[in-house]
Amino acid sequence: MSSKTKIQEYDLEYIWHPFTQMKEYAEESPLVIEDSEGIYLIDSEGNRYIDGVSSLWVNIHGHNSENINKAIKKQIDKIAHSTLLGVTNPSASILAKKLIDISPDGLRKVFYSGDGASAVEVGLKMAFQYWILKGKPEKKKFVCLKDGYHGDTLGAVSVGGIDLFHSTFEPLLFESFKVSSYDNTESFLNELNLTLSENSNEIAALILEPYVQAAGGMKVASDGYLKKVRGMCDEYNILLILDEVATGFGRTGKMFACEHDSVTPDILVLGKGLTGGYLPLSATITTQDIFDTFLGDYEELKAFFHGHSYSGNPLSCAAAIANLEIFENDKTLIKLKDKIEIFENELKEFKGLKNVGDVRNKGLMAGIDLVKDKNKKIDFDIRDRIGKKVCDHVLNEGVLLRPLGNTIVLMPPISINESEIKKLARSTYKAIKEVTENNE
Ligand SMILES: Cc1ncc(COP(=O)(O)O)c(C=O)c1O
Repeated sequence: MSSKTKIQEYDLEYIWHPFTQMKEYAEESPLVIEDSEGIYLIDSEGNRYIDGVSSLWVNIHGHNSENINKAIKKQIDKIAHSTLLGVTNPSASILAKKLIDISPDGLRKVFYSGDGASAVEVGLKMAFQYWILKGKPEKKKFVCLKDGYHGDTLGAVSVGGIDLFHSTFEPLLFESFKVSSYDNTESFLNELNLTLSENSNEIAALILEPYVQAAGGMKVASDGYLKKVRGMCDEYNILLILDEVATGFGRTGKMFACEHDSVTPDILVLGKGLTGGYLPLSATITTQDIFDTFLGDYEELKAFFHGHSYSGNPLSCAAAIANLEIFENDKTLIKLKDKIEIFENELKEFKGLKNVGDVRNKGLMAGIDLVKDKNKKIDFDIRDRIGKKVCDHVLNEGVLLRPLGNTIVLMPPISINESEIKKLARSTYKAIKEVTENNE
């Protein structure tokens, strides 16, 4: 093994990486990313990689974007941070107006946090307190989905449904109703209807990832399903929380995935791409009705007692404003249509590979399942580390990916161009072919 640089040594000595088996990690030389250009990440030796998963689903317009850089520099020369507890700042205020302008009709108020998981916690607590304030404290449970993922804090894990990540923490969690995943949209809808109809008196809200269960394996629901979900929530008087942390900001072809069905949730959760993938910032956006329910004289103690040190951080908000301005100025969403078509054409090719099972996508979010035997429906064993092997291999082709178990994820920055889409897809195809053929 090649000798390690100081950066690699410090990393191995001092950093505990997220979602990483550190024993396995310590056996390899860490890849050090220290520069970038557009959709490319550049390592410490000058090698360039297509950022095939948008730096864990956050990057939107590419790295080192001139306009976002400029906005952050302009802000930092004034002030980096001041609190949002009882005070405001121009960037947080302007961003809130912009977010309401682009959010589905009916959403009126923005609550800022730092990460996706925190914004989910806000949504859950808001829904919970809303029903207390409405005089229905018995409505205190949540409905969530198997294979759902909303982050790693305990509230978010309580409404999560990925056993691998969540089962260890079971004793720490609150109880939720769990319905099936998007594996079969029809069964999901039937089960949901049954759960809501039988338990509506004790349910505060339903939380789900609209159209794509991302961390759950890029599971995609059938067209039109979300309208039916909205209808059920209305019928049974249950709040709908849509977690668009992964699907927001153009990933599925629309600004927000709920726009595919023209659905307005009661609570919309945004994160990741909100700042274009630059800085931590998330938002929980809600209706006038929910906001008004918390109003009263101070001593009534109706206020929403929740907040974070960096809520509405001016630097993050300045980055987010610049992100939204690029959408407007570059007509990003209009350009996406052709890109998605090219992407889908490329994805079709994967189905011909011997060890590829299902291939799913919504817009520029895709999952490619690797299977040991397609006909006999035999999966690769966890010990095969097949997803990781493919991702290690494709690095040599100049593409950086991160799998979800045996599912290869492609989710490039939406600024990716036609030839880059082809390069990303074809390099991945080649890597899957070579690795799976050698693994038999
Ligand atoms: C749908 C969804 N919600 C919430 C989160 C959590 O976001 P964060 O990692 O910023 O806490 C994620 C992260 O992948 C996500 O995909």
